[in-house]
Formats: sequence, structure tokens, C-alpha cells
Amino acid sequence: MAIRLLRTVGDPILRKQAMEVKRFDATLERLLDDMAESMYYYEGVGLAAPQIGISKQIVVIDADESGLLELVNPEIVASEGEELDIEGCLSVPKTYGEVKRASKVKVVAQDRFGERIEIEAEGLLARALQHEIDHLHGILYIDKAERILPPEDEIDEEMEE
Ligand code: CO
Repeated sequence: MAIRLLRTVGDPILRKQAMEVKRFDATLERLLDDMAESMYYYEGVGLAAPQIGISKQIVVIDADESGLLELVNPEIVASEGEELDIEGCLSVPKTYGEVKRASKVKVVAQDRFGERIEIEAEGLLARALQHEIDHLHGILYIDKAERILPPEDEIDEEMEE
């Protein structure tokens, strides 16, 4: 396993539509392992493949008691409610903003072996799923933020993805 270099805002790969994964092989498994290791190393609650320079539809998330989630070709198939909360992103260092997200989502994806998985989430996990899936479509939270917080603002709940 290896820590991969983090891409930050201004890098054009963060703005590209990521490619669908079609091959579930050893390369994918290695990539997923590296993504999880990198996410923990950088202390994020989620990481999308474009953030380490790979334009493929893959995300890893560890946001709550569900532990590590590996999602390949994830898609939001249903969403409900609305919630405004503070968000950050490993690719947008030292910045936080208030972003409105659905409060509940249902996501369909594939696991590392290509098997279909379904996740229903709310709270932090729902927010992380929406944030990471946005990355796969070239969208950053700063595009959606209602307000970018001034650096002197006190932040109780920091969250970086
Ligand atoms: Co992010």
C-alpha cells in the first residue's frame, strides 16, 4: 500500500468527469487499498479517486460507525430533505463553507469485486456520500457553498473529505 499525492484546487483533474470502472482486477484492489490508506493518512472522512489524480469513479469513505466503505461507480438514486452544515475538503486546504445537502440519500454502487451494493444514509455519512460523488463529476463543495467561512470563525465540527 502507498500514500498517494493529494491534488488540490486548481488542478484540472478535479474538474473532469471521472470514467466508469469496468475492470474489477488487482489494479483496482491496489488502488482502493491506497485510497483508504491515503484518506486515513490525510485525516479525511472520504476521498475520491480524482483527488489522487485518478479520473475514475471510485470513492472511499469512513464517516461513522459503518466504518470503511469502498464504492465503485456510485450513484445517488434517491434523496430526501435538506440540511445546511459545515464542510471542508482535503483538496481545498484550510477552507470551510456552509453547504446545503440532502439529509438522506440512497446510493447504489459496486464493491471491489463488482457486486452491487446499496447504502441508505443520513447525517454525516449522507453528506460525505454527496460530497465524494460530486468529486466524480468535477464538482467541489466551494461551487455549492452558500457561504465560505472566514478563517477566524470558530468551527465546532470540522469535516474534511
Ligand atoms: Co472533497
